[in-house]
Amino acid sequence: MSEHELRVSKIRNGTVIDHVEGGQALNVLAILGIDGSEGLGVSIGMNVPSDRLGRKDVVKVEDRELSQSEVDVLSLIAPEATINIIREFEVVEKNRVTRPETVVGVLSCPNRNCITNADEPVETRFDVIDSGVRCDYCSAVLRSDIAAHIDV
Ligand code: CTP
Ligand code: ZN
Repeated sequence: MSEHELRVSKIRNGTVIDHVEGGQALNVLAILGIDGSEGLGVSIGMNVPSDRLGRKDVVKVEDRELSQSEVDVLSLIAPEATINIIREFEVVEKNRVTRPETVVGVLSCPNRNCITNADEPVETRFDVIDSGVRCDYCSAVLRSDIAAHIDV
């Protein structure tokens, strides 16, 4: 690596979310509920050159692994992402995200009149469609604003 190249350091333990669509890194952090106040080490590369994607974002979170529901939602905004689990500097696990068919109990419905927004014991449920996700109860569709409706 020449002195003109600058690369985000390797991490010792944690999770590297790689091959994120350029510009989505902050939404990835929003999905993980990370805003810095929790004290985790977080490094972000934005619009880094990538052979596969042209430009990509990379998010490295130290000492934290991801839940399946977090990965499910990530897949909606970063369908090409790779989740790497790092232990003692080694990649011990590498998984591509897959789009789930439904997302249950994670997203809030954008429709204020939806039954899931009334004070009823109803869990949210969205079907994953090509253009985003659709509420099972009221058919409201969430597209680019998925990250703002995370409810975990
Ligand atoms: N990584 C890291 N800290 C480590 C090990 C790896 O931050 N201790 C990061 C790398 O910088 C890379 C990702 O984790 O962004 C995956 O690492 P690796 O599998 O070694 O890289 P590639 O082979 O390039 O991955 P891929 O084949 O998925 O593109
Ligand atoms: Zn709804």
